[in-house]
Amino acid sequence: MSINRLGDELTRKIAAGEVIDRPASVVKELVENAIDAGSETVHVALVDGGGTSIVVRDDGEGIRHSELALAIERHTTSKISTEQDLDRILTLGFRGEALASIAAVSRMRIVSRAAGETEAFELVIEADALKTPVQPVGRGQGTTVEVSDLFFNLPARARFLGSPRTEYLHCSRVVQRFATLYPEVGWFLQHGTRETFAAPSTTGLIDRLGQVYGPEIARSLIPLEGSRGEITVSGAISRPDLRRSNRRDQLFTVNGRPVSDRGLAYVLASAYRGLLRPGAFPLAIVQIEIPAGDVDVNIHPRKEEVRFGNARKIQDAVSAAVHQALSSPQVVASALPADERTETSSPGAQVTEWPRSGTTGSAVRDSAQPPLTLDLRAETSRMRAVREAEKVRIRGDRRVIGQLHTTYLLVESPDGLEIVDQHIAHERILYERFRREMVEGDVARQLFLLPVRIELPFESAETLSGSLGLLAEHGIVLEEFGGGTFLLREYPRLLADPQTKKGFQEVIEALISALSESHSVDDVLHKHLASEMACGAAIRAGDHITLEEAQRLVERLMALENPFACPHGRPIIFSISKDDLDRKFKRK
Ligand SMILES: Nc1ncnc2c1ncn2[C@@H]1O[C@H](COP(=O)(O)OP(=O)(O)OP(=O)(O)O)[C@@H](O)[C@H]1O
Ligand SMILES: [Mg+2]
Repeated sequence: MSINRLGDELTRKIAAGEVIDRPASVVKELVENAIDAGSETVHVALVDGGGTSIVVRDDGEGIRHSELALAIERHTTSKISTEQDLDRILTLGFRGEALASIAAVSRMRIVSRAAGETEAFELVIEADALKTPVQPVGRGQGTTVEVSDLFFNLPARARFLGSPRTEYLHCSRVVQRFATLYPEVGWFLQHGTRETFAAPSTTGLIDRLGQVYGPEIARSLIPLEGSRGEITVSGAISRPDLRRSNRRDQLFTVNGRPVSDRGLAYVLASAYRGLLRPGAFPLAIVQIEIPAGDVDVNIHPRKEEVRFGNARKIQDAVSAAVHQALSSPQVVASALPADERTETSSPGAQVTEWPRSGTTGSAVRDSAQPPLTLDLRAETSRMRAVREAEKVRIRGDRRVIGQLHTTYLLVESPDGLEIVDQHIAHERILYERFRREMVEGDVARQLFLLPVRIELPFESAETLSGSLGLLAEHGIVLEEFGGGTFLLREYPRLLADPQTKKGFQEVIEALISALSESHSVDDVLHKHLASEMACGAAIRAGDHITLEEAQRLVERLMALENPFACPHGRPIIFSISKDDLDRKFKRK
């Protein structure tokens, strides 16, 4: 085989192919440029999902007449000039290749009027060649980039595009992501002749999320805040009762740049562990600010991934912020209908009757309330008051009076009625006891006289066989038998009995998926495994239990430090106070 030197045109197309793989990547690059130019409004108009035409119009600082032709060349940028600048990138772009890449695979027209100049100028390029010289046209300050017939000269790539609808959805996702991150910028999206998204400039993330996802969803968000050393984490996450069926509504940013990072996604998923059913995902906007020198943004052709100097520290900061947000009593649901929740305005009222803390949510559900941002802020301070109140609460005696739908235990308490989720309560008790044994390094094991056979598909068997030592630390002793078969010889005594009734196959599979999702052996993983095991062994919804068993369960639950919510914030007890009942029946 002989070695050829590729022509310029071909190498440019190859390079462009790395940056631009579908209309959405054009939209992303053009929108990033608009943001870097300090625009206040960005309009995106697509025809046929962007395949026929993409127009991005902004009112930013514009490109000077003298530099217009330069802007579309490769490696030309106004954003960095020296190697040191790579360590302190604050703009979204820095490589100076987006416009050149787009120009290499489309017909492009740029019109721009720079701040301080009196005229706008136009440039038309087709497949990298300047078709018309720069000429004057009418336009206010800002830039319009029109990209037509994307991949007209790369038929192979064009064939792999999805339907216009699919491509449109990808583009609109890009616009919505940037809209979320830049609430002070006004965003408008048009598909064909229809305006499909409009988000006028607004003041904060929560207001913007209301524009993007609708007010109902915005109200079910919990603000995220936290800092560790030089790392700060902000944003918003959804309450566990709001579930999305995929990860698309999760957005991580590092210094304003959207990034995809498996480690961070894993940290988020672990924090919601046990709060969501399998296959459900939270909505989350996690904005991380770190010193520019602690992150390398130059590792991915489309700038979608970054590398951290100390990933672990960042994950810890995110994990702490998410846990903190999820363990606020704000996420504990209230049994009362909205019209009954009245005294939510003063934190003082909350202090005396803690289990009604879930009512904090009602303040934002009331349409007569001031804008969401303010509410959430007030809510945060209420949450603090509630957390204090939680500490001073007296538990008193409780009596189980029945089981509802073989799922919930009804408990008479000194202040009213409590409804306990039997599965979550039992899981939490087992988890606490098992974690204690683990932390003390003293997991009592049960030896099976007849080992239990577990059969696994190839990939799971691989994962498991690499983690036998780790599982043994958790009291699970498995022996590899070959061909995807394992023999379970020992299991933690605390969990062995109840688990035996249910069989081990499912729990072992759950453990394997926990193992394969995680990247390191750390405390998060240990907790994750422990909670899978506790979940596996706990009584389930639908299991009959006797009143005595139920009574014992509730007593053991009450003996825990915080029996009202699991550490991740999922409510275990749902209360209706006697006062509320009296009011409901007009006794008061
Ligand atoms: N909408 C715009 N408004 C003002 N200037 C722009 C705009 N789009 C591009 N430019 C100018 O053109 C230059 C080249 O843009 P291009 O997107 O190719 O590179 P970049 O943004 O510097 O880096 P990257 O390739 O990482 O996006 C920019 O540095 C900027 O000076
Ligand atoms: Mg750019």
